[in-house]
Amino acid sequence: MEKVRMAIVGAGVWGDTHAGIFREHPLAVTAGICDTNQEKAAAVAEKYGIHGLYDSVDRMLAECPCDAVSIVTPDFLHADIAVKCARAGKHILIEKPLATSRDDVKRIMEAVETNHVRAMVDLHNRWNPPFALAKQAIEAGELGNLKTGYFRLNDIKWVATDMLSWSAFSSILWFLGSHSIDTLSWLLGSRVKRVYAVSTCGVLKNMGVDTVDTYLSTLEFENGCIAQMENGWIDPNGNPNVNDLKCTVLGDRGKIAIDASHHNMIQKYTDAAATVPDVLVRNSVHGAVKGFAYESIRSFIDRLVSGEDFIVSLEDAANASLAILAIMESAKKREPVEVAY
Ligand SMILES: NC(=O)c1ccc[n+]([C@@H]2O[C@H](COP(=O)([O-])OP(=O)(O)OC[C@H]3O[C@@H](n4cnc5c(N)ncnc54)[C@H](O)[C@@H]3O)[C@@H](O)[C@H]2O)c1
Repeated sequence: MEKVRMAIVGAGVWGDTHAGIFREHPLAVTAGICDTNQEKAAAVAEKYGIHGLYDSVDRMLAECPCDAVSIVTPDFLHADIAVKCARAGKHILIEKPLATSRDDVKRIMEAVETNHVRAMVDLHNRWNPPFALAKQAIEAGELGNLKTGYFRLNDIKWVATDMLSWSAFSSILWFLGSHSIDTLSWLLGSRVKRVYAVSTCGVLKNMGVDTVDTYLSTLEFENGCIAQMENGWIDPNGNPNVNDLKCTVLGDRGKIAIDASHHNMIQKYTDAAATVPDVLVRNSVHGAVKGFAYESIRSFIDRLVSGEDFIVSLEDAANASLAILAIMESAKKREPVEVAY
């Protein structure tokens, strides 16, 4: 069988993740890597043996023999690239969030439909084992009729102040809230229709990063379920995990509670810090990549080849982006806001 020839736009932390699984996947090969920062592109190219090196998406689309493109640029830079790729007839795997404005969401959806390409957004928590098991229990009817959900997903300050160079141009909602909304929608089996949110600012601003610290959001779903969601970027850096992730789903016959941030399966102590290294998200065992962050990307290739629907639909990803826009508006107005399409 012919391999899917992938190109990757964005050779940062997560572009490296895409290159890692494409190197291992028997049905994929990376034909090109594109970054406006040529040093970063060259470093990923050398690490994974990628031959095509590009400094612009236009040049890449004109010269690189690829079937599909991974878009792994900062949150607010997905839409123009996605539209160009769709117009060039390339299938697309877009990092979450799909896009950060209503107009951009609409432009991507239209371009995908008009040009008959396939697109998936990498909302990878659907591949996270505790959440996948929760979904199976829900589908088996073990919780009865679902009523409420709770999702807390916070990062330590370091992510906003040091890890991301562009956090002031994004938001904890785009960066982690997109996962929270998608997971709640997926588990509760419905899309968000109305939100009410409040927020706090100041901690990160005082540290030189002008973005909201924390959002608390109440979500109403089309099927009548309700949920509380907490997303913040100001957890203390002393937290032994980068993020704090808790989730509950309650039905009339049962409940599932997930704590994905304190597995404690491995504890590491040095003179500098105590940490509990990641075992679920993204790591390697005997040189092979492991973790659910790779599984979602693997699934994109598998389903592109098989023709099956992607596990994350473009419509679900669009709802997550539009719900985030509604949350931001609600937090500003201190009023409930309908999710507008
Ligand atoms: N699925 C996940 O859980 C997950 C985890 C981390 C990051 N992400 C997402 O992946 C995306 C990238 O995040 P990151 O952490 O790798 O960021 P990063 O800053 O490490 O990398 C982004 C890269 O994009 C490049 N770039 C910017 N504009 C470009 C353009 N027009 N053309 C080509 N290259 C361009 C930058 O030079 C940089 O190398 C974001 O949307 C982020 O939210 C997803």
